[in-house]
Amino acid sequence: MNTSSTINILLVEDEDFDVRRVRNTIRYFESNIKIRDVVSNGLAALDLLKENVDGYDVVVLDYQISGGLMGEALIRKIKEQDRFVQIIVITKMTINVTDYDFAQSLMQAGAFWYCTKYPGNIEDYIYQPTDFILSLYNAYEKKKLEKLRSRSDSKLNQNILNILESKRIIGESKPMLQLKEFIEKYSQSDANILITGASGTGKELVAWNIHYKSKRKLENFVPINCGSIPHELIESELFGYEKGAFTGASNKKAGLFEIANNGTIFLDEVSELPLTAQVKLLRVIQEGELEKLGRTKKVDVNVRIIAATNKNLAVEVNSGKFREDLYYRLNVIPIDIVPLRQRGEDILMLVDHFIKLYSFDMGLDVPAIDDEAKEILLAYKWPGNVRELKNVVQRLILNTSGIITAKDVSNPFILRNHTIIKDETNFEEMNFGQVLPLRDMERIFRTKYFKYVRSISSSDSSAAEKLGLAPSNFYRMCKELGIK
Ligand SMILES: Nc1ncnc2c1ncn2[C@@H]1O[C@H](COP(=O)(O)OP(=O)(O)OP(=O)(O)O)[C@@H](O)[C@H]1O
Ligand SMILES: [Mg+2]
Repeated sequence: MNTSSTINILLVEDEDFDVRRVRNTIRYFESNIKIRDVVSNGLAALDLLKENVDGYDVVVLDYQISGGLMGEALIRKIKEQDRFVQIIVITKMTINVTDYDFAQSLMQAGAFWYCTKYPGNIEDYIYQPTDFILSLYNAYEKKKLEKLRSRSDSKLNQNILNILESKRIIGESKPMLQLKEFIEKYSQSDANILITGASGTGKELVAWNIHYKSKRKLENFVPINCGSIPHELIESELFGYEKGAFTGASNKKAGLFEIANNGTIFLDEVSELPLTAQVKLLRVIQEGELEKLGRTKKVDVNVRIIAATNKNLAVEVNSGKFREDLYYRLNVIPIDIVPLRQRGEDILMLVDHFIKLYSFDMGLDVPAIDDEAKEILLAYKWPGNVRELKNVVQRLILNTSGIITAKDVSNPFILRNHTIIKDETNFEEMNFGQVLPLRDMERIFRTKYFKYVRSISSSDSSAAEKLGLAPSNFYRMCKELGIK
């Protein structure tokens, strides 16, 4: 029992002799139990609680009090006013010791404890004074614990909000809006999820979001890249082993599934999982138990699995590289992320987001982008998806000042795969389905390409330079192609 600090009491009691009884009961503990105020009705008690925020630790409350507001209704009002203050009810009624209903209705309303003012010969004290004193100390401890828990809960929640902010998914295109809707919906379930999508589309980002929006958010999120661990180590990484399970196992090792227990494991590049590990993984999913190397007893685990791959797992199943039964177990909820080039409107939004982010990080002014530069970014195919875009923006910020122009963007140092412009292989559209002799096709391509490079260059000599041509050759070829 901690007796070092003072317990402040608000006494709600309308009879003088009852006030006296409470005072007498706590008299020997005056050094740390103080009746700070006495009021004779419920409304006055509520007023005081409002005026003195956090001013009282325990409200000692007469059950039947004058003034109308009393009993459970008053208890509820007090808790609404101060959710941490503890309430001890004193009742005059001769309570039958088996009257659990009465006790339960007090507790449900929010009381911490109740005791009786024993009728009859006890005039000076509360009945069972030591119980009363003990319950005051316990109420005080409970208040402290509740405050502490509330503080650490809000800290944890704040940390989770910070993680979610750093993992925010940018994009308002239709597929992105739907993706966000899926995340909200499926994070609330415990079903396994398979995320597919090309490299850099944000599969891992989506997995983070699902975990930190789920009810498992206070437990571990354990990401593992199945492609980056040597095959012979992957089972011990995932499932762990006991000491002495094999030569060299000098200590036991907890597998990632144990570490993720009650939380989420993220199996990235799941197609790379060797077949033997696939069998074991299937058992974990089916039985909810692990077989640790060197252990006969099974270990129970409860882990949600989010898997991701940029391969087509169904094809892997057909070619015998991936177990069909495991595929169905993982693919309970499929989430496919479409490539960036198919959600054009997100491109500029992402560019804008990363420009602000990196300028801020580097302490630079946020540069503007001119319309021509935007055109190029929009037309680009983004084979590396958002990851590539992020890197491009980083390079742009380092290499330009003031305003970002078409010239900056088309610099091969910035847009590395610049030749992969949108629709470049769309031959059908180019010639209405006609197949032309190579020489004619070349001419069409050259014309388009020259025009394009010119459109993103500040001068003809810079266009010539980009094409790797001497200016005189460039002029001659333009003339031949009929480009003015
Ligand atoms: N919609 C988005 N909004 C903001 N950032 C994004 C978005 N999509 C992806 N990113 C960022 O792009 C980078 C690549 O994303 P992520 O690692 O999740 O992709 P991935 O699909 O797992 O790629 P890989 O298949 O190569 O592993 C990360 O830095 C991620 O934060
Ligand atoms: Mg990834």
